[in-house]
Formats: sequence, C-alpha cells, structure tokens
Amino acid sequence: MKDLISISDLSTGDIAELIQKAQDIIANPDRYCEKCRRKKLATLFYEPSTRTRLSFEAAMLELGGSVIGFSQASSSSASKGESVADTARTVSCYADIIAMRHPKEGAPLVAAEACPIPVINAGDGGHNHPTQTLADLLTIYREKGRFDHLKIGFCGDLKFGRTVHSLITAMSRYEGVSFVLISPEELRVPEYIRSDVLGKKRIPYKETDNWDDMHDLDILYMTRVQRERFFNEADYLRLRDVFILTAERLKSAKPDLCVMHPLPRVNEIERAVDSDPRACYFKQVLNGKYIRMALILKLLGID
Ligand code: NCD
Repeated sequence: MKDLISISDLSTGDIAELIQKAQDIIANPDRYCEKCRRKKLATLFYEPSTRTRLSFEAAMLELGGSVIGFSQASSSSASKGESVADTARTVSCYADIIAMRHPKEGAPLVAAEACPIPVINAGDGGHNHPTQTLADLLTIYREKGRFDHLKIGFCGDLKFGRTVHSLITAMSRYEGVSFVLISPEELRVPEYIRSDVLGKKRIPYKETDNWDDMHDLDILYMTRVQRERFFNEADYLRLRDVFILTAERLKSAKPDLCVMHPLPRVNEIERAVDSDPRACYFKQVLNGKYIRMALILKLLGID
C-alpha cells in the first residue's frame, strides 16, 4: 500500500497494527522521537483545517521530521490554474510524504496517481476522511476495548459529513455492530453508503429523525451541519439547530456511553456536556496525533 485514500485501503489487520503502534508511541514516546530524522511531510491544504493539519504537523515533528506546505489554495499555484497532479508531482521533489485536503472529491487520489511518494487523504469534499476515522477508531478502542458488538448512533449531517461515511465503512467490518442514523430527512447518508456498505454486508441499521430513544447506544457520534457544502443558506439555517445534545438529554443514556465528535463544534453539543466523563471529543483530538504518527511510519516503511 503506497497511499491512504479511503479507509478501505486498510485491512482490519492493518488497523489493528496501527492501533498497537499508536499505543506503543503513547507509552514510549522517546523511542520514536528520531524515527523520521531527515524526512519531510508536505501538508497541501486547499480547504480550512485546524486539527487535521496541525496534528499531521505535530505528528511529524514528534517523530523528528520536518514539515513544509500551504494551508490555503490561494497561497499556492492552484490560484494560477495549476492542476492537483502537477502540484503533487512538484511537491514530491521536495518531500517524502504528502497529506492533502481538497474540496473536490477524488483530488487526493489524482495526486496519488501522479506522484511516486505516499499521499494521505486528509479530507476530500463530502466524501472521505480516513485519518479522522483512524483517530475515532483509536478512541473507540481505548474507551471500549473492542470494535465488535457496539451500537453506534450517528447524529447530524450524515449526507455531507465525510467523517461519518468513513467511520461507518470502517465499523461495518466488525461483528455484531449496528447503527442508528439520526438526521433530518434531507441530511440522510448517501445512497452508496446504504447500498454498498450497509446493504451489501447486511448490517442492521435504522434511519430516523427522532433521537428520543438513546438508552442502548454505546457510542453517539455527533456532527456539525456542513454549511460550506449547502447550496443555499436558508436550508442551512433551517437544519442546523435540529439536534443539539444537552446534559439533560444525556440523563437517559448509558453510564458508559462514549460521546464523540470530529470537531469543529458549532452548537450541536452544549458546553455543559464537556465536563461529563462520557464526553470523548477532546480525547479524539489527542488520539489523532498518535495514530497519524503510526500512519506516517507505516507509509514510510519505518518500524
Ligand atoms: C471534520 C472534517 O474536516 O471533515 N473535521 C476534522 O477534520 N476533524 C469535520 C467537520 O469539518 O465537520
């Protein structure tokens, strides 16, 4: 495997290996602090980001490597009309590995095909976000100790939320997993998730616009309504406040529920929830750095 474009590029064995490596990095950070000496990561971000770009950069720095790149398309030659393929080929002359975020679905794949160094998809449009999924998986593993036999609720913008698509794809490979997909009618998961992922594997799932009954969920994965992917502002304003998680609502949930969110949060989780021990979203942020360290090592072929 040269690149990570979709979470399906990784087998469940690869994922187990990355989780184990991340746990080892957490336990023995000193062992890893020189592993990427003289290696360079390029972060090519054509779309806004805080966590993903900075966690890639922090990950490479903690491995002893260095970082180059841009954080907006307007400061790159994309603004002069250069193609993603040409930019990637150029950058491969300067760096050893690329992390790319792009508003167009498929752009990181185009980059991967155009250049000889590993390319990591750091989010492509409303499509996929495999490294957020790795952060989510490490969090689930550390909180629950397993991936199988979990009931997972996804709530919010399941249509445009790329982290949702990648995490459903990843979790649908484990035994006994079921999903409750909570969203307004207009923001249901795309058809290909229903048919190619859930339908094909016969995964039990329920689609609903009602979240009154969450007493048996093991995980609740909240998402923000993806304003930048809406065609009109009026629809966004109508849909953004439909599901807001409050401390009151959590009273009926399991005592060991894991509340997740890829962040950024807008208003879909009330601040009062942050102090609930079941809130795991800032743990996801930290886990994201460690699993990206493990991924960089894997793709560079460093043990
Ligand atoms: C997510 C993304 O960019 O898709 N953020 C992230 O990378 N953690 C979620 C979002 O923007 O809502």
